[in-house]
Amino acid sequence: MNKLVKGILTLGLLLGTFSYAATGKTYISKNTVLKASNGKTAQLYIGIAVTVVKKDAKVSTIAVNGFQNGKKIYFSKGESLVIATLNNGFTISKEGGNKVKLTGTVASSLLTTDHDGLWADEQDFYEDTCTQCHAERIVEDHSMKEWEALFAPMKIRAQISPEEASALLRYLKSNAKNGIVRSK
Ligand code: HEC
Repeated sequence: MNKLVKGILTLGLLLGTFSYAATGKTYISKNTVLKASNGKTAQLYIGIAVTVVKKDAKVSTIAVNGFQNGKKIYFSKGESLVIATLNNGFTISKEGGNKVKLTGTVASSLLTTDHDGLWADEQDFYEDTCTQCHAERIVEDHSMKEWEALFAPMKIRAQISPEEASALLRYLKSNAKNGIVRSK
């Protein structure tokens, strides 16, 4: 192949990769609360994707879309990943079926588009903990449900605490084939 053509193709590939990496999603960088205008709150979890309604230097208004079952709001209908938990009095807007939207404010400093950065600690922990007996498994090879099943015996083998296990499982599910990071 002609060198110039090759170069252009390579550049195209690179640009494609970059545009894939920067899908433009905004994430919450750690567990926090969403505060409604009436002062009521909902718990939000690290790595969930949000829509920024209004961004100010200190505090931003955001919206979170999900599927409700009682106090829990799930990322998808399959009810695999909890993205928010409602505290008493927090009102949500219903969008048909069990589809809901939560609106409120969070500290602007907790919003990020750098998904690799926000998962850096869990990524390290995963690499240290889960490669003691076998090679590192590719997270996006499995769906959220598959990770739930695969993880159950492995957290016992890895002898990690319940807190470490729940943070690690959230990392695996969020980055799974059909998780938050890879969903359209
Ligand atoms: C103490 C050793 C050990 C540790 C630590 C360990 N594993 Fe495993 N893992 C195994 C063995 C042995 C197998 C293959 C046999 C089996 O499935 O039980 C396996 C298999 C797997 C599989 C493939 C299962 C399948 O059915 O294809 C996945 C995925 C996996 N481990 C993920 C993890 C994750 C995630 C962690 C960290 C929480 C982890 N492992 C930690 C020993 C370990």
